[in-house]
Amino acid sequence: FDRTPLIAGNWKMNMDHVQGITLLQKLAWTLSDARHDYGRVEVVVFPPFTDLRSTQTLVAGDKLKVEYGAQDLSPNDSGAFTGDISGQFLAKLGCTYVLVGHSERRSVHGESDELLNEKLKAAYRHNLVPILCVGEGLEVRQAGDHVPHTLEQVRSDIAGLDAEQVSSLVIAYEPIWAIGTGEVAGPDDAQEMCAAIRAEIADLYDDTVAAKTRLLYGGSVKAANAASILGERDVDGVLVGGASLDVGEFANIVRFEQ
Ligand code: G3H
Repeated sequence: FDRTPLIAGNWKMNMDHVQGITLLQKLAWTLSDARHDYGRVEVVVFPPFTDLRSTQTLVAGDKLKVEYGAQDLSPNDSGAFTGDISGQFLAKLGCTYVLVGHSERRSVHGESDELLNEKLKAAYRHNLVPILCVGEGLEVRQAGDHVPHTLEQVRSDIAGLDAEQVSSLVIAYEPIWAIGTGEVAGPDDAQEMCAAIRAEIADLYDDTVAAKTRLLYGGSVKAANAASILGERDVDGVLVGGASLDVGEFANIVRFEQ
């Protein structure tokens, strides 16, 4: 089964909407050269909520052919939830994707697997494609329990989703010890986990579903290490943090095959 590679840039809490416009304009200019084949690689950016409206305007101007999404969403659709953002609003702003369960949401905001399950269901209610983030911390890795730990997250987070939903789901394996640390998991580590997640999905659903689910690696991805990670059989893309704020670096990750 042919899975289109997905290169995602998570800006985290960086870039106000003015800085965001400049970054996207530079990205449009850098990716506009003839070397870039938009059909072969899907590029998605995740700016802060406050940048989404200007991102929509820029992308609608057709100079920048990227998709965009939000870094989080509410499990609820509307109502008295001060500070929360509904998936309904994100869909209306043209978002295609939404991050769910980034380790910074899990640790800083104490998001539980139960809540993330609700958030995944909310994303599907509004036709947003969730990118579910999973992965272990350093202690779990050192104890050698990273695979069962991460699979347990996957199982609880996707509980109750149907085969069609899981076929379109994207799961990003992001070992916490490799996020923003310069410490990158080796291509073998990324492959080991992605293969284990795919096997788990085959077990829970079937081989056809497992062959469709796209699996990403995230954690200190740069242009210099992207190609080797993306060369792994079960790794279908990367979720890039820090390096997505550097246009040259991010563009070179997008062009990993060249
Ligand atoms: O969402 C992205 C990940 O947290 C990776 O961040 O590339 O800065 O390590 P990083």
